[in-house]
Amino acid sequence: MALRGAAQAAKRSGLTEVVLLNTGGMSVVSAAVRDRAFELMQDLIVQLRQAGAPTVEPPYDDLVEVVEGIRSDVSNLPLHVLASWTVFDQPDEYEYAHPFDVAVFSVAIALAMGERARVVDIGLGALLHDVGMALVPVPVDYREGEGLAAEDMEKARVHPELGVRVLRQHPRVSAFTKAIVAQHHERMDGSGYPRGLRGSDIHPYSRIVACADEFSTMLIRSHLDRNMTPGEVVDYMMSAAGFEFDKDVVRTMLGCVSPFPEGALVRLSTGELAVVTRLSRGMVTRPVVRVVKEEDGRQVETSEEIDLARPEHQTTLITAIE
Ligand SMILES: [Fe+2]
Ligand SMILES: [Fe+2]
Repeated sequence: MALRGAAQAAKRSGLTEVVLLNTGGMSVVSAAVRDRAFELMQDLIVQLRQAGAPTVEPPYDDLVEVVEGIRSDVSNLPLHVLASWTVFDQPDEYEYAHPFDVAVFSVAIALAMGERARVVDIGLGALLHDVGMALVPVPVDYREGEGLAAEDMEKARVHPELGVRVLRQHPRVSAFTKAIVAQHHERMDGSGYPRGLRGSDIHPYSRIVACADEFSTMLIRSHLDRNMTPGEVVDYMMSAAGFEFDKDVVRTMLGCVSPFPEGALVRLSTGELAVVTRLSRGMVTRPVVRVVKEEDGRQVETSEEIDLARPEHQTTLITAIE
């Protein structure tokens, strides 16, 4: 949601295939799991839009299988690889790719926080957190990737409640999953919606998904609008920790979710183009990179790895994902 500016920027640039997060980066979750998630979410959203009411039963068993796939892939990550975001192929895919990323981030956070027993409930809540949007009467251009106009944002504030009504159609969806969908826009300082809940009144699992949701949305926007660097998104999340977001969740997330996928092509503050070759846990904005093009676009013949976490490279920043 709230991708209007981002989508407009993409449209302005005349891209037919919006390079939303098209980083060429290595996905941490297998393509089969991701494609299945997209397919299931797309079917569910289309059916809900056709029904125009929360009368469609979510495909519970299939969605659980997807979450199990995410859990298995995230659990098997090599130590140096962190969860990161998805490559989009089509402009309207953010409607499925965003929930998928939120599920990947949330599962990674839940596992890192030792919430193994309820990881499926958490992943399912993350996948379905915005499902109520399918029942919000918004312009068609939203569905084509335009995002929402300010006046439609107000209408969209009912989507958490509508989402819960969709979940009620299946008897096996847990109370934890419903709490996540109901509360993913609540904020620790009471500034969220729909109920303006505060602190411990917000379920701990909802706090995980709230944080993952914001991080995913901001990363997409930073990529399209170029108004923030991925590092600034990380800074923003850190600054909101303890205010809007649970600080333990933010700390955990930034230890296991990177704003840069391995293999991503990134622009450095030196003007050079580089590939992310390795991520460092706990230093999510300071990966190891290999320069591939000079500032003037010349191909680099031989290039050494630069560890941005080292003091001598302290002043070099990643300004954008290409
Ligand atoms: Fe939402
Ligand atoms: Fe969302």
